[in-house]
Amino acid sequence: MRINKKTILIASLCGGMIFMQSFVPLQHNDKATNLKVLPKDISEKELHDVMRTFSKSLGVHCDFCHVKVEGQMEGGHPKMDFAADTKPEKNTARDMMRMTMAINNDHISKMKIDGHKMEEIACVTCHMGRTSPIVSVDSLPGQNKDRH
Ligand code: HEC
Ligand code: HEC
Repeated sequence: MRINKKTILIASLCGGMIFMQSFVPLQHNDKATNLKVLPKDISEKELHDVMRTFSKSLGVHCDFCHVKVEGQMEGGHPKMDFAADTKPEKNTARDMMRMTMAINNDHISKMKIDGHKMEEIACVTCHMGRTSPIVSVDSLPGQNKDRH
C-alpha cells in the first residue's frame, strides 16, 4: 500500500502530475516555505525528484529558475535561495505545471488510443532537453529548406 501510493506519487509528479491533489504524503518537508502548486507537505526527496526532472527536461541547472544568495557559500557551492520568486522563469514554470496538469486532467485522462489509455504528458514531452521547444516544422533538426 505504501509502496503503491509512493510509486504513484513520484510517477505523477515527475510525469503528468495528475494525482497531485489526491495522495497522502509519507514524510514532512519542513524546508519548503513557498510552494504554490506542489503539495505543501511533499517530502524533501520527492521535491528534489521533481526539481531534477524539471532541470533534465529543460536541459538546465537549478539556477535557471532559482537565485543565488549573493556572497554566501554552502558546501563549496554558492548558497541558493530556493524559496525566492525573483526569477521570472520560476513563475513561468508554475504556469507550465498548471498547464501540464490541465492538459492531463481535462483532456488526456478522457482519451483512448487503440483502446489504451493515453500516456500523460510531462515537461519533457514538449521541451525534450531544451528551454524553448520547437514550435515550427522549419526548426526540426535535419530540416533543409533548399531541399524539396
Ligand atoms: C524550470 C524551473 C525550475 C528548475 C530548473 C528548478 N526549479 Fe526548484 N522550483 C521551481 C518552482 C516553480 C518551484 C515552486 C513550486 C510551487 O510553487 O509549487 C520550485 C521550488 C523549489 C524548492 C522549494 C523552495 C521553497 O522553500 O518553497 C526547492 C528546495 C527547489 N525548488 C530546489 C531546486 C533544485 C535543487 C533544483 C535543481 C536540481 C531546482 N529546484 C530546479 C522551478 C524550478
Ligand atoms: C505543451 C507543451 C509544453 C509543456 C508540456 C511544457 N512546456 Fe514549458 N514551454 C513550452 C513552450 C512552447 C515554451 C516557449 C514559449 C515562448 O517562448 O513563447 C515554453 C517555455 C517554458 C519556460 C520559459 C523558458 C525561458 O527561456 O524563459 C519554462 C521555464 C518552462 N517552459 C518550463 C516548463 C516546465 C517546468 C514544464 C513541466 C511542468 C513545462 N514547461 C511543460 C511548451 C511546453
